Amino acid sequence: MKLAIGNDHVAIEMKKEICVYLESKGIEVIDVGTDSPERFDYPISGYKVARLVADGKADGGVLICGTGVGISLAANKVRGIRACVCSDPYTARLSKQHNNTNIIAFGARVIGIETAKMIVDEWLNAEFEGGRHQKRIDMIHEIEETQHLEACEQ
Ligand code: RB5
Repeated sequence: MKLAIGNDHVAIEMKKEICVYLESKGIEVIDVGTDSPERFDYPISGYKVARLVADGKADGGVLICGTGVGISLAANKVRGIRACVCSDPYTARLSKQHNNTNIIAFGARVIGIETAKMIVDEWLNAEFEGGRHQKRIDMIHEIEETQHLEACEQ
């Protein structure tokens, strides 16, 4: 498995720890940065990770900024990306099982490293359940592609 990971200046230490953690599990990591303590615009790393996932060059992505919000918003603008911010392992697991998230995000100012590792574990170990959830994923995709939702026009 190969994961892409990206962060802003607020989350450098947590990103590094998560990289080590993932590699200790045998996961290949593509780290798009930043590693500079200079102020860094999170849409850059959000976009880079999203691009790698959307293009099939990574199996999934991990994004970390102060809250996880800005960086996930940026990633979600790339077609085919379903990124969500999680502060707890339960949401992380359900986000894969029900929403088939392909990027998980969290905030280095919000959670500690042990919670971050639990979130990553739950997300990685979960599987999309398909079935009724696929229809809703398809509806999200329809909004993304057409800026409309047929179900609202009936
Ligand atoms: C940076 O100050 C901060 O805005 C950023 O890390 C993130 O929390 C944005 O959503």
